[in-house]
Amino acid sequence: MYKRKMLIDTDTASDDAVAILMAHRYPDIEPLAVTVVSGNMRVEDGSRNARYTIELCGAQTPVYLGCERPMLREPVHAYWYHGSDGMGGMNYPEPKLRAANGHAIEALIENIRAHENDVILVTLGPLTNVASALLRAPEIAKMVSRCIVMGGAANVVGNVTPAAEYNIWCDPEAARIVFRSGMNLEMVGWEAGRGAAALTDQEIAAVYAFNTPFAKFAMECNAHALQLAKHWQGDPGMTLHDPTAMAVALDPSISKRRGKYRVDVETRGELTRGMTVVDERHTVGTQAYFTDEWAVRQPNVLTHHELDAAKWKALLYQCLR
Ligand code: RIB
Ligand code: CA
Repeated sequence: MYKRKMLIDTDTASDDAVAILMAHRYPDIEPLAVTVVSGNMRVEDGSRNARYTIELCGAQTPVYLGCERPMLREPVHAYWYHGSDGMGGMNYPEPKLRAANGHAIEALIENIRAHENDVILVTLGPLTNVASALLRAPEIAKMVSRCIVMGGAANVVGNVTPAAEYNIWCDPEAARIVFRSGMNLEMVGWEAGRGAAALTDQEIAAVYAFNTPFAKFAMECNAHALQLAKHWQGDPGMTLHDPTAMAVALDPSISKRRGKYRVDVETRGELTRGMTVVDERHTVGTQAYFTDEWAVRQPNVLTHHELDAAKWKALLYQCLR
């Protein structure tokens, strides 16, 4: 069977782990490599969490350590949200799978070059690794068949500020490089995992009842984040942002509302750092009086606003059974 080749760039916290598991459990996906970036977790913690997850899936996918901090900004981690180990405090044993030799940036470049127009890149953390790879080898932008970014907030409130979602906010300069790179980009903002897409208590109980190591792992390592999703974010259940982006990568038909717009990233705003500015009304380039740099810039990002909640959850469950 032909398998779709995938690269996963991640700051492996508990929701990233479920996304990585999904890629390793989905029937027609061949994960080529996992590259780790500083974000929610320091890279060494992210690497450990990714390797544990891969080992749980019985795989040997190489895991490469990447950028240890954003391009310009100070690192801001999220141990408070994902637990002391990033996995809900489950303190899983040290995986036997060791980190692969070589840097994540080179691993991205080499794998993209080796599989030109035949690789899906899924990003689950800040875009520091991907931006750095694009700066070193700009030609790879046109070699990636699809790049699905978990990040941003398409004209909705952010999670870390009223304007911005964490992955973009953490390294806005990197995000701007990626969004302006010409790569075939799809954006799944944090809003896609909220509301009806969140797993309710009943649905969580039903997943545990699958009685598989994958279901147990996915739910238990996100139990800590669940409390914050409910009581800090005001969501009706477990929000799994990275898994929703992975689900769109695996089966784009789960996207219920989407559009291709000009999207750019705010890097200078005092209040709007990391905002994904989504030109949903196609205002740029239409009015003759538009004089600023937007005027000549075409739509560049397929933005997924909303998922079919039932289809998204069915795909997740398929990977956990
Ligand atoms: O804002 C949600 C994103 O930030 C997810 O990728 C989560 O893992 C964190 O990295
Ligand atoms: Ca993440």
